[in-house]
This record gives sequence, structure tokens and C-alpha cells, in this order.
Amino acid sequence: MNTPDWSLRTATYDDAILLGEIVIEATKDQGRWPQMSDDDEAEWLRGFAEWSRECVDAADGPGRLEVIEIDGAAVGRLRTARDTGTVDGEELPRVTLSGLQLRPAVQDRGVGTSIIRTLQDEVSAAGGVLDLGVEHTNPNARRLYERLGFVAVGTNDDEVEMRWTPGGKHSDTVTRP
Ligand SMILES: CC(C)(COP(=O)(O)OP(=O)(O)OC[C@H]1O[C@@H](n2cnc3c(N)ncnc32)[C@H](O)[C@@H]1OP(=O)(O)O)[C@@H](O)C(=O)NCCC(=O)NCCS
Repeated sequence: MNTPDWSLRTATYDDAILLGEIVIEATKDQGRWPQMSDDDEAEWLRGFAEWSRECVDAADGPGRLEVIEIDGAAVGRLRTARDTGTVDGEELPRVTLSGLQLRPAVQDRGVGTSIIRTLQDEVSAAGGVLDLGVEHTNPNARRLYERLGFVAVGTNDDEVEMRWTPGGKHSDTVTRP
């Protein structure tokens, strides 16, 4: 597989609509976008953009909102948070992957794998854990995470909570930031 080079840049206010459009495009492509009117979709996009701008404003906090680029073009959204989490009674550095969406045109070429491996490298270097949640309605993404060594550690009505640790250690409970 020929995986294109990708890079990340910190999102700005001006990216807020674009990032929402990427989420809509990726979710529609999966057939998982709920039926709604154009007005409701525009309203959703406005709300999502407002939330994204709040993330930009909170740049000093644990959250990080980034634009994924290939050849200078915005092709995806990456949202992560960095704090600490408890694994088997031990407080460890934690990265939480709370959003990863790529435009359909660049999917299935290894970019998602490469981004997650970069997060795994960061967590390995810090001796920490990497957490994420994947919706029950997204088995394809779950398959990718399992292939990359994530283990299910919890579940709720919407999502399976998954964790990756360098040594494969995992606790039974996950506290999300
Ligand atoms: C999930 C996603 C980030 C993976 O990145 P990617 O670059 O496409 O994936 P890679 O090429 O590295 O790996 C391919 C694997 O990703 C998964 N995948 C591919 N396209 C996918 C899609 N549209 N939705 C969900 N998972 C997908 C599959 O497990 C695939 O492996 P397979 O050959 O067994 O089918 C990307 O496909 C995407 O943005 N999907 C839509 C949004 C989404 O579901 N995000 C995850 C939310 S938890």
C-alpha cells in the first residue's frame, strides 16, 4: 500500500466549518448520517463549528484539535486529549483519541493506521495508555483498532471503550476526560 505523507496543524477558528464538513462527509459515506433536513444539517454544522471553536479557545487545556493535511490540503480531523488515567491502580500519562475522520477520498490508504501508530509511539515513550471510544455502529473502525492492539475495556449504550498500552496491560475500567 502506498500511504501518502500526512501532517498535522493546530486548528484555528477558520477551520471550524471545514472540520464539521469533513465529519459530515465521512459519516454520510459510511451511511451512518441520520436522516435530517438541509436546515437541520446546517444547524448541526453551526453547533459543531461553535464547539470546535471552544476547543480552539481551550488550547491551554488537555484537548488538542488538529487538521490532517496531505500535500497542503485539509483531508481530516484529529481530536485528542492528554491527561492521566488509572491502570491497575497506577496513575499513568494518558492520551485519549476522541475524534479521527478522514475524507473518503483518502481512506483505506494507511493514513489512519499511521496516525494511530504515531500516538502509540508517543504513549510508549511516556509509558502511558491510549484510550478511545468506538460506536457500536462502526464495526469497520473497531476492526482497525483491534488490529492495532486495542482491547475493549468497557461499554456504554453508544460506544465500546478501548485501550492500548505498550505492554498490553489494561484495566477493566476507563475514565474518559
Ligand atoms: C476509521 C479511519 C480513521 C481509518 O483510517 P484509514 O486511513 O481509512 O484506515 P487504514 O487505511 O489505515 O486502515 C484500513 C482499515 O480502516 C478501517 N476503515 C476503512 N475505511 C473505513 C471507514 N470508512 N469507516 C470506518 N473504518 C474504516 C477498516 O478496518 C480497514 O481495514 P479493512 O481492510 O479490514 O477493511 C477512516 O477510515 C475514517 O475516517 N473513517 C470515517 C470516520 C470514522 O469512522 N472514524 C473513526 C471513528 S471511531
